[in-house]
Amino acid sequence: MSWTRKDLLDLQSLTAEEIQTVLETARAFKAVGERVIKKVPALHGKTVVNLFVEPSTRTRTSFQLAAQRLSADIINFTAEASSLKKGETLKDTARNLEALNADFIVIRHSAAGAPHFLARVLQAHVVNAGDGAHEHPTQGLLDLFTMLEKKGRLAGLQVTILGDILYSRVARSNIWGLQKLGAQVTLCGPPTLVPRSFAELGCRVTHVLEEAIEAADVINLLRIQHERQRKSMFPSLGEYTSLFGINRQRLAAAKPDVLIMHPGPINRGVEVDSEVADGEQSVILEQVTNGLAIRMAALFLLNGGKAPQPAPAG
Ligand code: CP
Repeated sequence: MSWTRKDLLDLQSLTAEEIQTVLETARAFKAVGERVIKKVPALHGKTVVNLFVEPSTRTRTSFQLAAQRLSADIINFTAEASSLKKGETLKDTARNLEALNADFIVIRHSAAGAPHFLARVLQAHVVNAGDGAHEHPTQGLLDLFTMLEKKGRLAGLQVTILGDILYSRVARSNIWGLQKLGAQVTLCGPPTLVPRSFAELGCRVTHVLEEAIEAADVINLLRIQHERQRKSMFPSLGEYTSLFGINRQRLAAAKPDVLIMHPGPINRGVEVDSEVADGEQSVILEQVTNGLAIRMAALFLLNGGKAPQPAPAG
């Protein structure tokens, strides 16, 4: 199956079949990444611009490497050193990049909806690399890919997302993607960061850590996103850690094969201690590796590439 979408903006608007197509394509690209020659010519002659107006380590570098592995040219736009600082608008900035023949604009922005706005005014493919607290679709996809790879299924999987849900774009992309593929999602954290209204999205909501982790197949930990919070949402980080921080003692109440995930960056000693973050149940660095395959798959499919055929049953 090939994609007919011009842009990748969110998981809310993707069908389960489209998500499956990305996951299958990423599996093929992960195998390419294990070969001696890791480069393929799929995007030869195309130009990808990383337009990051917010900081990033994992997403920016993996989109850069994904573009290079697909033989595209890549421009890393640095907002701090750009004419955005002189008052140029985002639209004008993006249209000037398009005038330099950018075929893909990968955008991260603090304003929810910024990628959707650019998608309407540009001919170029637009990929959302995180917009405010709205969505981070490639993170959601790489999380799904990692769970599928480790657990062999998504349907029926019990996934707990723990931490700052209210301000998390990762949580929203995970919720949409997981539910479309049949997983059951539990959200947990302080009531100020996990309002009951999330139950309207079909999630189970609890503010009791033990309830959230006892039946979980996966615990996806989120950091407190201070940069998006407009006021203090709980008394202190120490109190947050004492109630919701994951350490070995707490993990003893979970299934022995529970997966520990985190999109990064980790605040060690707050949402998780180092023993668990670096422990044998943790797949945090494998998520980063899988992010490369997912981003290669996303660029490839947006460019009109055909997904590999699933292996015939039996
Ligand atoms: N997970 C994630 O988006 O990390 P970066 O902010 O480093 O890209």
